[in-house]
Amino acid sequence: MRIAVVTLFPEMFDAVSRYGVSGRACEQGVLDLRCFNPRSHTSDRHQTVDDRPYGGGPGMLMMIQPLSDAIEEARQWAESDGKSAMVVYLSPQGKVFDQSAAKHFAAPESGNLVLLAGRYEGVDERLIQAQVDAEWSIGDYVLSGGELAAMVMLDAVTRLLPGALGHQQSAEQDSFSDGLLDCPHYTRPEVFQGESVPAVLLSGNHEKIRQWRLKQSLGRTWQRRPDLLEKLSLNEEQQKLLAE
Ligand code: ADE
Repeated sequence: MRIAVVTLFPEMFDAVSRYGVSGRACEQGVLDLRCFNPRSHTSDRHQTVDDRPYGGGPGMLMMIQPLSDAIEEARQWAESDGKSAMVVYLSPQGKVFDQSAAKHFAAPESGNLVLLAGRYEGVDERLIQAQVDAEWSIGDYVLSGGELAAMVMLDAVTRLLPGALGHQQSAEQDSFSDGLLDCPHYTRPEVFQGESVPAVLLSGNHEKIRQWRLKQSLGRTWQRRPDLLEKLSLNEEQQKLLAE
């Protein structure tokens, strides 16, 4: 998958291109990540990338021409492998990103992505209308730029790409993969600070372990995020375990 990022701070993306699961995905060619900087599309001596808002008020906007040119360059690169690319603007005004959106963007039929990370007070509305396909938010709070939001989205999508996680099963067993919170996990030693690992996990009975984990997931979701349960239609086994 190709992901182009339009950003004034391309170095920030070293965090995802060099480390962890997304870093390995880049190394292995599962993800092809490239940044496009509006500053490279300036022609003045100061390489100006901000501009004053019409109507006055505090703060600046991203200057329209360098930004528009950078988006176009990013889109062309993202589509040059023959797949279509969607231009996504990260902003608090967008639809709230969640695991099902991550799955959608990771699906091969969704094509490639251009992520537009805004700075300052935002971007000209006409540019959004003309060049942006969708607006997404990572939550109801305001960041000082779209870069961290773009990285959140990039990370959540990348780890779902085939071959990104060494052990493909673990994406399927994630928190939220079936709409539920994850079950608790345990590692050595068997007793830590006087607390034992639940006996069922030492039993070797894989079916019993599967049922215990599902029950824990259901219980946690019910206690911590009842809003998630309301959105789900539980299967027969899940309903039975929740009622127990
Ligand atoms: N830019 C600033 N705040 C944001 C948010 N919450 N989500 C996405 N992009 C943003």
